[in-house]
Amino acid sequence: MPLVPPNVASLTPYVPGKPIEEVERELGISGVAKLASNENALGPSPLALAAAREAAGRAHLYPDGSAYLLRHALAERLGVAFEEVFVGNGSNELIELVVRTFTCPGEEVLTSAGSFVAYRLAAQAHGRAFVEAPMKARFHYDLSALRARLGPATKVVFLANPDNPTGTWLTAAELTPFLEAVPPATLVVLDEAYVEFVDAPGFPDSLALRRRFPNLIVLRTFSKIYGLAGLRLGYGVARAELVGFLDRVRAPFNTSLVAQAAGVAALADEAHVARSRALVREERPFLAAGLAALGATVVPSQGNFLLVDLPGTDGAQVFQALLREGVVVRPVGGYGFPTCQRITVGLHGENQRLLAALGKVLGR
Ligand SMILES: Cc1ncc(COP(=O)(O)O)c(C=O)c1O
Repeated sequence: MPLVPPNVASLTPYVPGKPIEEVERELGISGVAKLASNENALGPSPLALAAAREAAGRAHLYPDGSAYLLRHALAERLGVAFEEVFVGNGSNELIELVVRTFTCPGEEVLTSAGSFVAYRLAAQAHGRAFVEAPMKARFHYDLSALRARLGPATKVVFLANPDNPTGTWLTAAELTPFLEAVPPATLVVLDEAYVEFVDAPGFPDSLALRRRFPNLIVLRTFSKIYGLAGLRLGYGVARAELVGFLDRVRAPFNTSLVAQAAGVAALADEAHVARSRALVREERPFLAAGLAALGATVVPSQGNFLLVDLPGTDGAQVFQALLREGVVVRPVGGYGFPTCQRITVGLHGENQRLLAALGKVLGR
């Protein structure tokens, strides 16, 4: 009898961005710039931080298992019903929870190749067949290819919009015909972790689309624009019936008391959201122009990061060389982009530093 099922034995664990402390320890340097995990360069919302500190004084108590105040605040802000909101330990937990709750043996999880790796991990961990459609023009979801792979066994389709690691996005005009082609019993998860950074015209209003497509599940996170990645808090919106099932399967206290309190405060901190959005919208083109000037191909992005192709380079080597310059980025060879790096948009000084370091590494 094997110790674990074959689908678990063959799992490759998620590789996170290198923590600053680890890089500093390994290289014996300090002041490392971490542009590896699409975190908020401005830090947490100050209002959320104050609420978290206050809530920490009640850390001996279990959290509210129903996350009433947080779900209430989310429902109000999003203009949806309380019963349509669910929360989790990062949206990563919710990706996994959707697969765990809704898929049966023999059913398939469908997404695009080169998209967020958590979809594959969730499917594989639960022993579900994982189907990928190839991308088009290297970095874009190909909705026709995805459509061609829809079948009677397709239970969940994951679409990251904007996508990670490419930063590319689907417009409403592209997405809507795809949703029309998906059978009602197939759930479509729109993973909008970066939605608050979008300024492209024609971006889908996912919450409005839910009214037409009750099989739509929208996932979002407090890790990016709200700057709370370390507290682990994500949320989703789906029809109440689906939320009811997710609720039965999730762990009873899947979000902490501190995270819930911080989340409520972060939602109300409009100034921090505005600052964070403005930083990315200002620095994203600055960084893109600087990278292009170094000869990189910069993939157009609506996230707080850029996917950058440096043709002829070895992604792992460029990553290591940048590390030695005190800048951590994310090589994405594992996503099928061996000559690319994913670079988070940082503070202006961090972006300048990355450009100088990359110029040095490339000898340009
Ligand atoms: C597309 C996408 N979805 C989900 C997540 C998970 O975020 P979290 O679990 O921190 O909410 C990320 C994180 O980088 C992401 O890029």
